[in-house]
Amino acid sequence: MNCKRFISIIIVVSFLGTCLITISAMGQAKLSRGLALREEMVALEEAFETIIDAVIFSNTELIKPAIIRFHKTREKVEMTIISEPGVILPKNQDKFKEFVELDIKFHEDLASLEKAAEKGQKKLAKDQTHKLLDGCVVCHERFRK
Ligand code: HEC
Repeated sequence: MNCKRFISIIIVVSFLGTCLITISAMGQAKLSRGLALREEMVALEEAFETIIDAVIFSNTELIKPAIIRFHKTREKVEMTIISEPGVILPKNQDKFKEFVELDIKFHEDLASLEKAAEKGQKKLAKDQTHKLLDGCVVCHERFRK
């Protein structure tokens, strides 16, 4: 094999290698954005198990710590989203703006629940919990497969 041919083979091989690495990094980013949302959702579900118990048994003092625990996971998710903008949605990705609006509204309602719980306003905490559960259903119907 002559030297020129050898060098061009090396160039082609390293080019293909770079392509492969890039493609797998893109896949990884997509995967982590999908995983980040699911991780947040699992944390949210855990928080709501506590919140529902708290409402049912009139233990509003359990609500705030559950929301704080959830926020820790949410922060991690936000970091992932910031490092690689956007979230991968199982469906209606083209309605991403609507997803963000629902998400913002949900977190505002969650903050209201936290305040009501802090002040020991039981009826308000119960109503706010109902509203939030409706929020889960609305967003899932729209964006979860
Ligand atoms: C703003 C939109 C939005 C809101 C609000 C929302 N979710 Fe989700 N949730 C999603 C999406 C989208 C998925 C699918 C994620 C995926 O599969 O990548 C999901 C998935 C989940 C999952 C993962 C398990 C599964 O079968 O997909 C759980 C658990 C979950 N949500 C719980 C909740 C609970 C509990 C609430 C309300 C207290 C809630 N979610 C509110 C958008 C939302």
